[in-house]
Amino acid sequence: MLSSTLARRTCRSFCSARFHLRSSHNQTSSQQNAEGPKTTHFGFQTVPEESKESLVRNVFDSVASSYDLMNDAMSLGVHRLWKDEYVSLLNPGSKGPMKCIDVAGGTGDIALRLLDFARERYADRETTIDVVDINTEMLKAGYTRFKKTMYHNTPQIAFREGNAQALPEEQFPSNTYDLYTIAFGIRNCTSVPDVLKEAYRVLKPGGTFACLEFSKVNNPLFGAVYDQYSFSVIPLLGTILAGDRASYQYLVESIRKFPPQPEFAQMIVDAGFTTGGMFEGKGGAWRDQWNGIASIHMGVKL
Ligand SMILES: C[S@@+](CC[C@H](N)C(=O)[O-])C[C@H]1O[C@@H](n2cnc3c(N)ncnc32)[C@H](O)[C@@H]1O
Repeated sequence: MLSSTLARRTCRSFCSARFHLRSSHNQTSSQQNAEGPKTTHFGFQTVPEESKESLVRNVFDSVASSYDLMNDAMSLGVHRLWKDEYVSLLNPGSKGPMKCIDVAGGTGDIALRLLDFARERYADRETTIDVVDINTEMLKAGYTRFKKTMYHNTPQIAFREGNAQALPEEQFPSNTYDLYTIAFGIRNCTSVPDVLKEAYRVLKPGGTFACLEFSKVNNPLFGAVYDQYSFSVIPLLGTILAGDRASYQYLVESIRKFPPQPEFAQMIVDAGFTTGGMFEGKGGAWRDQWNGIASIHMGVKL
């Protein structure tokens, strides 16, 4: 509840606007108020740029212990299908062991899938993954989860605290990784261009950037049903299962503020990556899942 209280308090002082469901999604560029500090979005609220990070941190502090359960409940298990498709598209292990970084990796859900895929499909036990997250509670939950797996206490997995927008050069040197993954994390960051810049820096030439994120639904009718479900059922589930409505309200709102697929694809290009064409599907810069509820964007550092 800390996050909701903090968010309410911050907003009482600073909120300059509330937005409607389909309002501008320009989360990526901050705005300079004539009289006040630079502002950005925290869900549908406008907050000073420097407070977003701590607000997001409080959300994930609050949801960490129930995060995996809530993911299953909110998506009726569908997030597993999206993550499995993401991992099989990346096909880890197919070209030999890889050095991977999973940023905003939270409880290690993607890392575990990548390692399992490489081992089961290619008998690869040498691929390594650094799971990086800004939130220690999420990392702790991930570490505990990995204790039950064969990867615990092996060089294959490491949990490290770090901000996606500014990965310390000493810990995350340039040109290090073959694969950079970020799943359902980038929309929570204050500056998407800064995240992309860091991704480009830490990848080796030839390395792959792959982002799985909630996106824009293509079909208006399906979109209306999805909106209805998200805004009524998800905060309710947050209240019942996690005792925290506000954090889940934020999660739903933050999805609507993220740029649509072509705009995000252009940001990946602007960061220096080579992508497919500016369209959805095979040969394109992104691949939609479930009519765009989520989408996978990929780019290569040449
Ligand atoms: C919705 S969770 C996704 C976790 C995991 N990738 C998954 O798919 O299950 C979002 C994660 O992003 C992390 N996060 C938010 N802002 C971040 C930042 N600036 N740098 C690193 N991690 C961040 C949160 O702490 C949280 O663990």
